[in-house]
Amino acid sequence: MNTTTTPAKTIGEFDKELDQRHMRGQWQYDVQLEAIRKDGPLPAGVPFLWDWNTVQSTLNELSALMTESKTARRNVSFINPGPMVTGTSHTLLMGMQLVLPGEVAWAHRHSINALRFVVDGSPDLYTVVDGEKCAMETNDLVLTPAYSWHDHHNESASPRIWIDILDVPVFGFLRQFFFETYGETVQPLRAHPGDNVSLRSSLLRPAWEAQSADRIACRYPWRDVQESLRLHATSQGSPYDGIILHYAHPITGGSTMPTLDCHVQSLHPGFEGKEHRHTSSAVYYVVEGEGTTIVGDKELNWKAKDSFVVPNWMWHRHINRSESSEAILFSCTDAPLLNKLRMYREEPENSFNARRYPTVPADLQSNSETSDKPHSHQT
Ligand SMILES: [Fe+2]
Ligand SMILES: [Fe+2]
Repeated sequence: MNTTTTPAKTIGEFDKELDQRHMRGQWQYDVQLEAIRKDGPLPAGVPFLWDWNTVQSTLNELSALMTESKTARRNVSFINPGPMVTGTSHTLLMGMQLVLPGEVAWAHRHSINALRFVVDGSPDLYTVVDGEKCAMETNDLVLTPAYSWHDHHNESASPRIWIDILDVPVFGFLRQFFFETYGETVQPLRAHPGDNVSLRSSLLRPAWEAQSADRIACRYPWRDVQESLRLHATSQGSPYDGIILHYAHPITGGSTMPTLDCHVQSLHPGFEGKEHRHTSSAVYYVVEGEGTTIVGDKELNWKAKDSFVVPNWMWHRHINRSESSEAILFSCTDAPLLNKLRMYREEPENSFNARRYPTVPADLQSNSETSDKPHSHQT
């Protein structure tokens, strides 16, 4: 006796019925699972470069169109051309902002973390963060952490431009936006210089106060970065990233902000970095030089003031095309967020932090001596 019966419907028809019941079968994810099994997470978005000439002419066009801005928020965001990505990467939003002479960008605060890297600055351009003035000279980095009040002022005679980088897509996905305007254009400054937050983030801190790592207004002046890069110029550096320095949080020494980490890297003339990949995505700004970053099978050819994005989990390598000049890149990643969630991975392992501190010269000497000699200081 034949016991088989013809099914009343195909699985495809059943899938459609499930849709109507607001359900989905696990088998519908099998193609994706197969891809993930072979190579790990699927990258979000695509590698892409925003050419400075296009960005500059866009900002100029915008300032001609919008001669007055009540909020001085002439900002254009860089949106990844890939599908399903609302920011520059799936977690980071990068853009550039132009502020005309005499303008003030209104005081406000929000739950998102933000930072500024200055493209065209001046001693007369500054951001007030929680009542403290932070100057914005060219290539300075200024942090406005979550919930810190901030307003921007251009008291110079020329239009000024900076890069904004924020963790907006993450906060959007998690539905964590809070936003508040101060109610007046400008927030009050701290009355006493001794109350400035920067005095709480230096090596000498008031011992009578409880220490806090939150809402630390911080400026990393470019002149300090340049000096550090100069001192490290003869170091071995990273085979992937050259001489790469971390903008450490001034109190914790850890990530620049809870969700964002910043680095600056110098690639020696002719540098050809090794290929690596990590689960974090990164946005880059070219401070100086000319080179190529190969991401997957795409070549991003960059020059000074260009910006580009390297999506998560894509193989990439940096090349300095010049045989005579350094190339310097500023970058921001979402790695701190992934680290906190124990999600961060890289290939090969230990692309970062693999080398030990330089050896203490006296330790080298004492190790080479055979002896039962006491390790005392001989005078
Ligand atoms: Fe803001
Ligand atoms: Fe990398």
